[in-house]
Amino acid sequence: MGKNNRNSTLLTVDNIGKQFGGLKVLNSINFEVAKGERIGIIGPNGAGKTTLFNIIAGDLEPTHGEIFYKGLRITKVPNYKRVRQGIVRTFQKNNLLTELTVLDNLLLVLQRKMKLEKIWFQDRLARKFSPLYEKADTLLEKWGLSDRKDSFVRNLSYGEQRQVEIVLGIATEPDVLLLDEPTAGMSNAETKYILNLLNSLSRELTILIIEHDMDVIFGLADKIIVLYNGEVLMEGDRETVLSDERVREIYLGEEAANASG
Ligand SMILES: Nc1ncnc2c1ncn2[C@@H]1O[C@H](COP(=O)(O)OP(=O)(O)O)[C@@H](O)[C@H]1O
Ligand SMILES: [Mg+2]
Repeated sequence: MGKNNRNSTLLTVDNIGKQFGGLKVLNSINFEVAKGERIGIIGPNGAGKTTLFNIIAGDLEPTHGEIFYKGLRITKVPNYKRVRQGIVRTFQKNNLLTELTVLDNLLLVLQRKMKLEKIWFQDRLARKFSPLYEKADTLLEKWGLSDRKDSFVRNLSYGEQRQVEIVLGIATEPDVLLLDEPTAGMSNAETKYILNLLNSLSRELTILIIEHDMDVIFGLADKIIVLYNGEVLMEGDRETVLSDERVREIYLGEEAANASG
């Protein structure tokens, strides 16, 4: 892989390795992400996809290697600071405040972003902070959640909860959005809906998405990275990936049949 387009490089994953005790999960992961690029990350269960996201988001320190973002080394920058710098993730499992309403979950994220004092919550019935509510309403409308805004998150379907989590990620106006299996557990209709919405987001936004649903990967990603055995097995566009014999073997499980190593 060449080192062209240095200027447009937003994120660099440089020789990242991760070991849990004796378990080597990531060996040496290298790739670059340009601003506005949409990267799909695929690979079998246990390939280390979520671990890689943990390291990019700052939830986990790598055993070796570096992460560069906007030209700076951020390998040891804690997760909450990376959020402020524009790197935002959603989780494979829901990470919502389930005892609050959809609107309250969103307001909490927005007030943090808009740096409002915590006391705004006491005045909420007076709706004294209308820009906050307007922003929340716009987002909920756009993401088809208006009729759910006063529902407690715990009462939503699993698919709707995943949807809310994506909206919370978008609400922080990130530069890089890391989506870990966003459509897992969603119906086909919900998946299609989410795919369309993700495709409607600004092309300025850089997206890294882990997915098992190939329609989502191929419908969103400019480039696909295949993780296997702690390495980048290959990266390329849809055609390159689909025509790769090794990828087909992994996905069709044929490697079990001729497991010679
Ligand atoms: N915190 C942890 N401690 C120990 N092992 C872990 C930890 N997180 C992940 N692993 C292991 O690392 C491997 C890769 O996990 P993960 O990154 O979740 O894979 P994927 O998301 O590709 O399915 C798995 O074998 C998993 O059990
Ligand atoms: Mg995972």
